[in-house]
Amino acid sequence: MSNKKLFIQTTSLWDFPSQNYGTSKQGDIGYKGATPSYIIWNLLMKYTKEKQIIVDPMCGSGTTLDVCKDTNRFGIGYDLTPFRSDIKKADARKIPLKNNYADFVFIDPPYSDNLKYSDNKADIGNLNAKDDQYFISLSLVIKEINRILKPGRFFALYVCDYFSTKKGFVPIGFKLFNIMIKYFTSVDIISVIRHNNDLKKGNYHKAAEENNFYLRGFNYLFIMKKPKGLTNGNFNKKTGNKRTKFNRNSSKYSK
Ligand SMILES: C[S@@+](CC[C@H](N)C(=O)[O-])C[C@H]1O[C@@H](n2cnc3c(N)ncnc32)[C@H](O)[C@@H]1O
Repeated sequence: MSNKKLFIQTTSLWDFPSQNYGTSKQGDIGYKGATPSYIIWNLLMKYTKEKQIIVDPMCGSGTTLDVCKDTNRFGIGYDLTPFRSDIKKADARKIPLKNNYADFVFIDPPYSDNLKYSDNKADIGNLNAKDDQYFISLSLVIKEINRILKPGRFFALYVCDYFSTKKGFVPIGFKLFNIMIKYFTSVDIISVIRHNNDLKKGNYHKAAEENNFYLRGFNYLFIMKKPKGLTNGNFNKKTGNKRTKFNRNSSKYSK
């Protein structure tokens, strides 16, 4: 691998114009919804060390596993529909790992039902973000990530808001953040410039201009930390089931 073009991002606005870094391949460029590998590389450089255990519960084409190999980390990837043999089959709501096992978790979940991954009923990519069930499902994934992550370690979630001319706008990022802060403390929020092929299409821009909406120009990268003294969401061993006022609003997503 060559890291010539790769550098550690130092602001909260990240940009890298290609899916893969260097001369090697990470994940599959033909896989719709593959995560740009420099994002995972930057996270691993900042929040992990060599030989640590990195888990991706929705591993898709395996980008996280390839970046782990490049950087001498131990990657474990799951997906409901494994794309290649080193990705194990599992529902992200039931990850077959013991509690407090992972040193870092990265996840890039489906953003509503805009891409088809499978016909499996458990596939969260078959749920529209206008439907509460999408957030209920992802709240279970977030809870599961909290279970497998070691206290004091980091978790990153990469996601985009939803807009459809028929159904309107859903601030997926804000809604998921509201769920995540029940379990994790917020470390930072990064805006990642999208280089989606659709953004290169003139007719998409024309439609946005004529119909008064915006194309999605950025993704959120939420960086969270599992607090050392907390277990199981906002449950504190010493003080009991303590909730903040802000968290109480999102209680319908907690199971
Ligand atoms: C945006 S893609 C992930 C892309 C991946 N990071 C990559 O670089 O290729 C989302 C993935 O979530 C998976 N998925 C959907 N529902 C799932 C579930 N309940 N459990 C595990 N994986 C699921 C899909 O199969 C899809 O591969």
